[in-house]
Amino acid sequence: MRKASVMLDRDFAIGRTDPRLFGAFVEHLGRCVYGGIYEPGHPTADEKGFRGDVLELVRELGPTIMRYPGGNFVSGYNWEDGVGPMEQRPRKLDLAWFTTEPNTFGTNEFVDWCKAANIEPMLAVNLGTRAGDAARNLVEYCNHPGGTYWSDLRRQHGWEQPHGIKFWCLGNEMDGPWQMEYKTATQYGLVAKEAAKMMRWIDPTIELAACGSSGRNMPTFGRWEDEVLEHTFEHAEYISLHTYLNNYAEDTAGFLASPDIMDMFIEEVVAIADGVAARRRSPKRIMLSFDEWNVWYRTRRKRADRVKEGWPVAPPILEEIYNMEDALAFGGAVISLLNHADRVKAACLAQLVNVIAPIMTETGGPAWRQTIFWPFAQMSRLGRGEVLRTRVESETYSASYYDPRGTQDLYFPVPETPYLKVSAVADDAGGLALFLLNRDLSQEADVTIDVRNFGRLKVTEATELRHDDLKAINTKDRPNQVSPVDLRDVSVDGGTVKARLKPASWTVVKLSAA
Ligand code: AHR
Repeated sequence: MRKASVMLDRDFAIGRTDPRLFGAFVEHLGRCVYGGIYEPGHPTADEKGFRGDVLELVRELGPTIMRYPGGNFVSGYNWEDGVGPMEQRPRKLDLAWFTTEPNTFGTNEFVDWCKAANIEPMLAVNLGTRAGDAARNLVEYCNHPGGTYWSDLRRQHGWEQPHGIKFWCLGNEMDGPWQMEYKTATQYGLVAKEAAKMMRWIDPTIELAACGSSGRNMPTFGRWEDEVLEHTFEHAEYISLHTYLNNYAEDTAGFLASPDIMDMFIEEVVAIADGVAARRRSPKRIMLSFDEWNVWYRTRRKRADRVKEGWPVAPPILEEIYNMEDALAFGGAVISLLNHADRVKAACLAQLVNVIAPIMTETGGPAWRQTIFWPFAQMSRLGRGEVLRTRVESETYSASYYDPRGTQDLYFPVPETPYLKVSAVADDAGGLALFLLNRDLSQEADVTIDVRNFGRLKVTEATELRHDDLKAINTKDRPNQVSPVDLRDVSVDGGTVKARLKPASWTVVKLSAA
């Protein structure tokens, strides 16, 4: 049995979680749109073709903002193909995923879906094969009230009122050679700056995210952010980050340490952004949009393999099946995001349905929750408020995280990984939510949490997510194999919360004013 202690104080806050921290992502990729959120003819679909069973699970999951339409897809997307009379929309080859895009779902359908789900839309513009002109036209189409070519076209298409889309991504992963027309930092910085300028001239109320490097393991990382922000500092509010955790090495301890590398990544990007501000003697602070994060490694495929399969419509690709240990690493990432609430102001779980997703569907059949559904839903429901600083006393272990890039084997040391990873979020009613990850694979942890200046608290909810088999999964036939169960080993006594955490477990405790 290990012992760990946590000390926190209601007055020492990191920052308030922005509602946009609980976002997700819908890309035209595989069965995310077609057969995922949109499936006309499905028994639960409404008159617009939106699957009702998926909408129900999305409401339970609780994403607040949804990024669309890509991803790699957006770097070749002509948004005009996805609006207007359906029968006139072109079928096109998508070079991001080597599929055929029918374009029967586009920007307006997406905005309608977001309304049905009560989610804010976030749009990405194509800065790969296109640039500022197409981007500014899209802003005019979406956000201008009327009386111009593009805004009247929207009205003619049946959407009289402007969509009022606030959050825009200036392209996607533009330093990635897999991207259509990827760019150097100088090329991208200039294109992004000009696109941003024009987009904002059309609608001064929008917020813009410049592309950061597509990963911390990219050779471009660091210098890319620095130069891109040098160009876009005055024009963007956010810089983006992407991370997909993996367990290629079949090293669970290393895998569970990997969220600590996310912490480092966030802090490094903050340092670079603030360095750019310092060079300008500027008080402006660029915020972070972690607009792709998840676990993903089993279903990554080489372009050459995809090409061999021809040009299918909505094939079942990237359908990663998540197991128990994935949910633990995912929970660690949840804690990393919460604990940087002062600078990470938006984040998108990539993705939402079927494609590396918390929700799975069968085309024509049911929908169910993957293991990673749970930590996300809990974060969105209980993570609203002030994230508190925590002083954690926990034994540590030494890990190494294998994160290959292309043919290069890269190992990142995580020399002092605390077995216990924690986040604490105070709500406005005097309550507190605790998110606890026990990374010890064999030992329980007795955790004592000093909450002395909270007044009298009572436990209103306590659950643990664990399974004897770290490879256990949820399937259509066994959808609840990995799901949270009530935790009895938790108590509050005066100013101390005590919890006994099982080995390799994710625990969430909600305390309310007694
Ligand atoms: O989310 C899957 C893909 O991962 C996205 O299209 C791309 O941006 C990233 O490389």
